[in-house]
This record gives sequence, structure tokens and C-alpha cells, in this order.
Amino acid sequence: MPVPPTRPHPTATAPPRFPAGFLWGAATSAYQVEGATAEDGRTASIWDTFCRTPGKVFQGHTGEVAVDHYHRFREDVRLMAGLGLTAYRFSVSWPRVQPTGHGPAVQQGLDFYRRLTDELLSAGITPVATLYHWDLPQELESAGGWPERATAERFAEYAGLVGEALGDRIGHWTTLNEPWCSAFLGYGSGVHAPGRTDPVAALRAAHHLNLGHGLAVTALRGVLPADAQLSVSLNLHALRPLTPSADDRDAVRRIDAVGNRVFLGPMLEGAYPEDLLADTAHLTDWSFVRAGDEKEIHQPMDWLGVNYYTPTVVSAADEGTAPARADGHGGGTASPWPGADQVGFHPAPGERTAMDWAVDPSGLYELLTGLARRHPDLPLVVTENGAAYQDEVGEDGTVHDPERAAYLHAHLAAIHRATADGADVRGYFAWSLLDNFEWAYGYAKRFGLVHVDYPTQTRTPKTSAHWYARVARTGELRPPAEG
Ligand code: FCB
Repeated sequence: MPVPPTRPHPTATAPPRFPAGFLWGAATSAYQVEGATAEDGRTASIWDTFCRTPGKVFQGHTGEVAVDHYHRFREDVRLMAGLGLTAYRFSVSWPRVQPTGHGPAVQQGLDFYRRLTDELLSAGITPVATLYHWDLPQELESAGGWPERATAERFAEYAGLVGEALGDRIGHWTTLNEPWCSAFLGYGSGVHAPGRTDPVAALRAAHHLNLGHGLAVTALRGVLPADAQLSVSLNLHALRPLTPSADDRDAVRRIDAVGNRVFLGPMLEGAYPEDLLADTAHLTDWSFVRAGDEKEIHQPMDWLGVNYYTPTVVSAADEGTAPARADGHGGGTASPWPGADQVGFHPAPGERTAMDWAVDPSGLYELLTGLARRHPDLPLVVTENGAAYQDEVGEDGTVHDPERAAYLHAHLAAIHRATADGADVRGYFAWSLLDNFEWAYGYAKRFGLVHVDYPTQTRTPKTSAHWYARVARTGELRPPAEG
């Protein structure tokens, strides 16, 4: 038989390609970028209060000015368009739209989001709105905050108001951003607003965030067009046992329960995991979960948002292991992990970012393929992923950040592999569009694709932004060196 001439396989060197229609985005959140905290009727959120509390935020930084997105959004949308982005994920500030958490919406607040979304739409950029990225109106916290059921009901009302006002322009909605952080950093370790350190309050908050999500989805379905896409964004923990021992694997199970399944269980399967209830039984009998709540939380969603930065390595606590405090957002003295006092946390291997987070894209691959196996019909969107580095403006005016481009490239490659292995991933949002207020770290950590010189508010796209722009324009994932 004649042997056919050998030719290189046509796809052997072709770069990974993402499908047409894949959302290429960047994300921000209201308190981190908007500034204008006392304009047009906005009142204080828990983050305004927290920032004013001595010792809570690096060097007393606040979001009062942030990157002035409230006034510079037109310039920022032009930047996005210049970078070829097809989607922008931002959050709506509750205290701007419904300042006390009660009563009718404030039109000036809504008008800001109308102007922003009109600008996006005319630039061909899909708006993706998150309703809650951590800025609870202070009045609601003063009335008890997320540990109280009424906050979930307030949230659903607010969601309905915003949906009704903006549903003609916004087709993609996310209820909550990272409710784990709201509950366990806000009420458990206290490193985030409102800064409480009460494990039971943290578990109650987790439930009422879940309930708020479910009630908000129902409220939104009632006011939005039938084709609106509803979702939630979770910071799922990619967990690794320190050793293969049964005890270390049990530590993984425990953190998976209180870090991941506390939300995935009720939201996607309609029930809290039994092992979570058992692990925390010495703290609470969970009687704040009323009959029918889990059904209320379990609403059909159009996609699930996954936020991922770094994996988490745990062990059964032992002499010499770090206490169960680690969460990546700053150290506290209290634990953000109720019912997991026995668990030890360890640095993950690998290169580190300026947050001291290990770079390991395999965690993202594992999360996406794991979700796809368990929920094969649920589309996924990576709603946050990115890295902080000590970026500086060079003498020639450019910001050269090869580490960030390499980070983004490696994580997009992991997403592409996950897609090939069955995960239905519809989009990617780099965190963040702009350098901004990084919570307890203030302005000390820069996550932006675009550098911001804070005194002048000058925006300079970093070299990673130019690389990402090319990926977004072509749908082809080429390594940064070629890009
Ligand atoms: C996530 C938050 C986001 C930003 C990144 C670095 O947990 O959702 O606001 O702080 O971390």
C-alpha cells in the first residue's frame, strides 16, 4: 500500500480558538471604581463605614473617589471599546439606587446606570449587571444586616426595582457577587465590612444571602423580559489535601461544605448539605432556615458565574500548621470557617502574585469540569479571574506587565481545555478593567488591565491589555510573547 506523504496536521500548531459569541469581558464593582459616594442622593454603605473605622483598611484608604468611574465612565467605555471587549461586568450600588434599603428608587441613581449602559450598548458591549457586590446600605446593617431575614426580603425588592427600571437595556443579570465573602469575611473573620466576628451570624448571613438570591431571581423574572439571563457569581474554592491521608481529605470535605456547597447545595440542588449541618451543629441548629426556604433558593438559572484566582491547600490541623484563618483577603484574628477549627491552611505551591496567591490554573480547570459533570446543562461564565502585580509606569510611559499576561494566558488555556472536556463556558471576565480599591488592601494592590495613576486619574492600558485585546478580537489564544 502506498504510504501517503507526511504533512503536518493542519491543526497541530493552530492556537486554541474560542467560539464566536464567547463574551470577552472585564469586570469592576461599584464601590471599587465609582467614587462619588455622597453624590445624587447616595448614602453610606457598610464599606463607607468600615473604611472610616481605624485599622480596618490599609492606610485608611476609602472608595470616596476611587477611580472616579461615576464621572469618567464615557472615557472608560471608550477604553473598553478600544480593547475590543464585547462585555462589561459592573455592579449596581444599592445605596445609590435605594439609599436606605427601603422605598422607591432614586432616579438620579438609576440614571447613572442608564447612561452607562446606553454608552456600552452604542459601543457594541454587552452589559452584565451584578446587583450586589458587597455594598449593603448602612441602614440595613444597623437593622441587623445579612444575619437577619428581612435583609433578604429588602434585597429582592431592590432587585425588582432595578430590574424594572433597567430591564429594557440590560439582558444579563447577576444577583450576588461572592456571597461567601459577604457572609464569612463580613461576619466571620471580620476582615471585610461590616467587620463582625461571630460564626453564627456568618452562617445566618450565608442563609439569608442564599434566600435573597432566590427571592431576587423570582422578583427579576416577574419584571424582566422572558429572554433575560439570570445568574449568581460564586468564588468557588479549588481544594487540595496537603497529603492523601484520610484526615486531610476530610479537611477538604469540611472546607468544601462551608466554602462551596453551602451555596451550591441550596442554589443548584435545593438543599443544604447534611455534612455542613453536622459540622456546625455545635454552633447552631439552623432553625433560621424555614420550611420552604430551600425551595425558594433553588431557582432555575441561565448560567453560573465562577470567580477563580488560586487554589486552597488544607490539612487536618496539626502542630505547626497555620490556623484556620487563611482566606486570601487579609488576615484577621477570627476564623472565616465556622465549624472548621481543626483545619490547617497551607501555602499552595507555585509562583505568587502581589496578593501572595499562588498561580495555578489547574484549579480553574478542575472547578469547571467538576461543575460540568454534576450540572451538565448549566452554562458557565468565568466572571472574575486575574492577578495583582507591582505595576509601574516606565520612562517611555508604558506599563509592562508580562506576569499578568502570562497569568491570563494560562487561565484562558485552562478554560479552553475544560471546554474541550465538556464544560459549557460562555464567557470570560478579567478582574479588573482598571486598577481600583482592593477592599482591605485599599489602593495597594493593582489588578487592572488598565493602570490608573490615582492623583491624576490617568488611564494607561498595560501591555497585558493589548495582548488581551488581540485575543478578544480574534478569538485565538496566542501566547503573550507572540501577541
Ligand atoms: C474578588 C472580589 C473582587 C476583587 C477580587 C480581587 O474576591 O469579588 O471585588 O476584590 O477578589
